Amino acid sequence: MNSTFYLPLWFFKAKFLGKKDPLQSVIFISDKCNLACKHCNVYSRQNPNIKTYEQIKEELEYCYKRGSRFVDFEGGEPTIWTDGDYDINSLIALAKHIGFFSTTVTTNAVLPFDKLKADSIWVSLDGLGEYHNRIRGNGVFDKLVKNIETSGHPDLSVNMVVNALNYQSVDETIEFVKDNPFIKSISINFHTPYKGTESLFLNWDIRCQVIDKVIAYKKKKYPIMNSVSGLKLMKHNKFKKQCWVSNFILADGTRLNTCSGENAGICDQCGLCMAGEMHSVMTLKPDTILAGMRLRM
Ligand SMILES: C[S@@+](CC[C@H](N)C(=O)[O-])C[C@H]1O[C@@H](n2cnc3c(N)ncnc32)[C@H](O)[C@@H]1O
Ligand code: SF4
Repeated sequence: MNSTFYLPLWFFKAKFLGKKDPLQSVIFISDKCNLACKHCNVYSRQNPNIKTYEQIKEELEYCYKRGSRFVDFEGGEPTIWTDGDYDINSLIALAKHIGFFSTTVTTNAVLPFDKLKADSIWVSLDGLGEYHNRIRGNGVFDKLVKNIETSGHPDLSVNMVVNALNYQSVDETIEFVKDNPFIKSISINFHTPYKGTESLFLNWDIRCQVIDKVIAYKKKKYPIMNSVSGLKLMKHNKFKKQCWVSNFILADGTRLNTCSGENAGICDQCGLCMAGEMHSVMTLKPDTILAGMRLRM
């Protein structure tokens, strides 16, 4: 069954029959990374977990059997993953062979990714110039700009995580995306205070001001992936979370039926835009459904 039939069927089962089958899987293929970003507690320098091709194959099959049809390869840095002759493109081909409709890779864009065969690519961009570098390391921003330009990928968006160090850069980053012909859209997220990164949490007043600004840009037709309904929910986070729409398999192999923020007990402070977007889809907000369809179909 193709996505045109599968998606409405999945939605009907979820909304009206109460079935909680994941639609998307997030697979952390390793936690090895070529950066050590200030806001991140996922990567491991000392003893990274690096999954084998066989392990990832088994995980993909498990996700597919559970009903998932979209997969996002995460890390660590997914573009540096190898197992013998296998690389990230081998995993993309494998996922398509198993039957996933679409594959996504999220990358820091430090290395060229012009050979990357994912259906869509998310590049992490945490502000312009020094704002990005302050979080991710010296020289990283210039590499990102160059590698985006040379990637030639038709479906490339950027993901900004707004925190206490970069919130002043939100306007210029949105303008940069609008003027950059190689980038389709930007998604705005906020720092989620995982253990060890609590100090970067943005206070709620500033968060609300940033959200109002982003909504204004969205209304002016800037290429912002978030829906207005989803953005409004992120102002207070007081809504029923529907994060079971994605399942997660961590770098150590742990399988979660919902986001790791719930396990860490920090849902109230969550900054990931997908939480609000999922709630808005389930409560039939037309603007969010439209945004989701643009992303998925
Ligand atoms: C863990 S990284 C892995 C992929 C790749 N290394 C990268 O940086 O794009 C995936 C995404 O999680 C985001 N992230 C990391 N720590 C976060 C946090 N504490 N709160 C919200 N997002 C976070 C990153 O900015 C990135 O966009
Ligand atoms: S590049 Fe990605 S995985 Fe690596 S430290 Fe930064 S956010 Fe974490």
